[in-house]
Amino acid sequence: MTRPRVYITRRIPDAGLDPIREACDVILWGGDEPPPYETLVDHVRDVDGLLCLLTDRIDDALMAAAPRLRVISQMAVGYDNIDVAAATRRGIVVGYTPDVLTEATADMAFALLMAAARRLVEAVDYARAGRWRTWGPLTLLGHDVHGATLGIVGLGRIGRAVARRARGFDMRVLYYDCARDEAAEREFGPACLDLDTLLAESDFVTLHVPLTPATRHLIGREQLRRMKPTAVLINTSRGPVVDQEALVEALRAGEIGYAALDVTDPEPLPPDHPLFALPNAIITPHIASASVTARAQMAVLAARNLLAGLRGEAPPFCVNPAALVRPNK
Ligand code: DGY
Repeated sequence: MTRPRVYITRRIPDAGLDPIREACDVILWGGDEPPPYETLVDHVRDVDGLLCLLTDRIDDALMAAAPRLRVISQMAVGYDNIDVAAATRRGIVVGYTPDVLTEATADMAFALLMAAARRLVEAVDYARAGRWRTWGPLTLLGHDVHGATLGIVGLGRIGRAVARRARGFDMRVLYYDCARDEAAEREFGPACLDLDTLLAESDFVTLHVPLTPATRHLIGREQLRRMKPTAVLINTSRGPVVDQEALVEALRAGEIGYAALDVTDPEPLPPDHPLFALPNAIITPHIASASVTARAQMAVLAARNLLAGLRGEAPPFCVNPAALVRPNK
């Protein structure tokens, strides 16, 4: 029996790579950076499966060039880089990797929150630069996390995991979502508000929504103006959820206090971008899920999704089960 051919767009943890290698002929892009789009299109021409990352543009033209493609398995919970409607139309199932990165991502959102509140990066730079001459009563004053109000935009899996952490810090937790989550409200007491009120009342605002046409620039000039001048904005979702130009202006003008961003628009953010020059911005390179355990589990799940799709089954975590009922393969 011929083995399926699959293309993997970057080296992933062995926990996911090994089972794929056992069952398939693997072509692995060995670069540290994503394959260029044209290279990717060239490589998918005769593969049955594709394991890709959020850094790969998977559009209709790419799928059109891959007549054998049956499954796209994305090693991420977000999949805004994939034209899912086109995949469904073409009978290609799309897998993704939710849950296994929830806690790691929530840890990182909280780490950013703490780092911004207590000006951790500024303090490290200050000590390293030899500016620490004495204990100063007014040196590097930050803001308390305990007792502060946290506004969570998007109370999905990751938003809820952040809310649980906030409870341990005695924070008041507010949330905004398109649907009310009464179970979460009973479990850990967050209050559901409209976005404008949440922005006005929160000391910290953390974003946990997927990137869709409805959430692009959800936080723009108007929204930033509604926030407290001391407020901290934390983003571990997707860069374009925030209007970054407006954010730079708001940080410069003191309309908000701080931004702590693990995601930017674009990625990577060029080193000469104004955000890097602002003392009240912390930028990390999209590492919220980058714990050894989370990344291994993401790879395992991506492999399971890929192998199921190659067998003609629905991936255990499937974005578009409808693709299976209209297969064109
Ligand atoms: C995701 O999975 O979508 C994160 O952004 C990266 O792990």
